[in-house]
Amino acid sequence: MDKSRLDKNTALDLLHKKMKNENLRRHCYAVGKVLADFYDFFPASGNLTKDHWEIAGILHDADWEITKDNPERHTIELLEWLESYEVEPELLDVFRSHNSKITKLRFPETRLEWTLECCDELTGFIVAVALVMPEKKLEQVTVDSVLKKFKQKEFAKQVDREQISQCEQKLGINLNDFVSMTLNSMKKNSGMLGL
Ligand SMILES: [Fe+2]
Ligand SMILES: [Fe+2]
Repeated sequence: MDKSRLDKNTALDLLHKKMKNENLRRHCYAVGKVLADFYDFFPASGNLTKDHWEIAGILHDADWEITKDNPERHTIELLEWLESYEVEPELLDVFRSHNSKITKLRFPETRLEWTLECCDELTGFIVAVALVMPEKKLEQVTVDSVLKKFKQKEFAKQVDREQISQCEQKLGINLNDFVSMTLNSMKKNSGMLGL
């Protein structure tokens, strides 16, 4: 059987088929949009295109709804689904690097893999900050408000601050700038994110 190529549309179709919760989907859209903007920021390298960076975000958690009670299956399930598609090997590596603290399939290495690792947690944190704003809108969130909450250990304490701060060492972007770029990208897509 001919495999269909994994492009943005087939990736979104796959996400929608496998994930029904709108908030979970929005997390995937957010990470996709943020990664697409980081693609423009970094000097070009490797074979992957801006669409591939977005697909990495769209699909990184596509199996989450199904695997949430079996964290060791998270990404393994996704990789099995992707066997029916034609996917660039570098993109498969990106998925293999996700949830790798548990699966140990591949630790993040490339720029895309580290950007995914850091902004995955940060987008969730920014949503948490938006939700405590008076009108629960991203528009009201500032870099300062994010950084202030970042230092409050009790706020959104499930968010791994260390994972986000690795942007400094692994990507050479200071935390302030990393928050600013991620926040701007989310604000541009606030309609899609329902915030
Ligand atoms: Fe995940
Ligand atoms: Fe995620």
